[in-house]
Amino acid sequence: MDNSKKYILAIESSCDDTSAAVLCNNTVLSNVIANQEIHEQYGGVVPELASRAHQQNIVPVVHQALVKANIDKKQLSAIAFTKGPGLLGSLLVGTSFAKSLALGLDIPLIEVNHMQAHILAHFIKDDAQKEPPFPFLAMTISGGHTQIVLVKDHFTMEVLGETLDDAVGEAFDKSAKLLGLPYPGGPLIDKYAKEGNPLRFEFPKPKVEGLNFSFSGLKTSILYFIQRNTQKNPNFIKENLADICASIQHTIIAILMQKLNRAVKETGVKHVAIGGGVAANSGIRAKLKEAEETKGWQTYIPKFAYCTDNAGMIGIVGYLKFLKGEFAEQNVAAQARYKI
Ligand code: KG4
Ligand code: ZN
Repeated sequence: MDNSKKYILAIESSCDDTSAAVLCNNTVLSNVIANQEIHEQYGGVVPELASRAHQQNIVPVVHQALVKANIDKKQLSAIAFTKGPGLLGSLLVGTSFAKSLALGLDIPLIEVNHMQAHILAHFIKDDAQKEPPFPFLAMTISGGHTQIVLVKDHFTMEVLGETLDDAVGEAFDKSAKLLGLPYPGGPLIDKYAKEGNPLRFEFPKPKVEGLNFSFSGLKTSILYFIQRNTQKNPNFIKENLADICASIQHTIIAILMQKLNRAVKETGVKHVAIGGGVAANSGIRAKLKEAEETKGWQTYIPKFAYCTDNAGMIGIVGYLKFLKGEFAEQNVAAQARYKI
């Protein structure tokens, strides 16, 4: 057996995706994700339904990850799992499963912070992405998170700012819901925005101290804007959908870029990485590219499969912790609130 090869099984179940991955060192061999469609009809994730679905999905998802990687569970070196942050009922499913399997196979268990994993996803070895050098700034933007983090090395991270209320993905999704678009509406706003005029409508930007964010006010102003205009013209949304989407997206991206600019100025760090589902947004990607040319930034965006919630990113943290010999005890517990 080649001892330089470590096989890590990783499990992610913090929100509404059940995912399992197998890594050989820093390379992802398989990364299986079961999405939970049940939440679509409710316009958002229902925690109780999410944990039940994880319970149904976890065994087949882990099985598929092993089969796709062509690895027998006896070859595994360790099991990494998401300890938090996330929905407690969802986290419990992955945590309990990982603990039992590690005990059964008599191999080490590795706890992973989901937010660190979004950032360390950049270190998965893959031709489609490049590793940022230390120190770098990481902005994690998704349906559950909005943070700017100064990353000094793999495990020395300082949160410089975060949202005080809604996450940026929620701002996209809730705006989309007000426009009558299905959940999750972020990708649809992005799609319609491409055809619209981003300067047609103006929405107020929140005034938040430092590098923190707030998105709940934007949602309220969009609600009033729509109510006001549909009273005058019942077809207002239909007739102006592209311009409304473009204007909403323009506002959200301006809020993100304003804070990112400030973080670069305050830290002097020009290596800027983003991650999370909203990193798929074409507007934010274009702004980052522009900043490479106009501001001399170096920007890093992981492959899309490693941006959204997935176990591959849990596995890379597992591998890096394995190298340091950082293992968890069997009495480790899931934690809904868990700081970087
Ligand atoms: O990382 P992710 O899959 O799950 C969470 O941890 O939340 O992120 C999902 C979020 C949703 O809010 C979705 O609307 C948003 O990412 N999203 C987008 C785009 N693609 C996904 N938002 C704006 N533009 C997109 N292209
Ligand atoms: Zn996430």
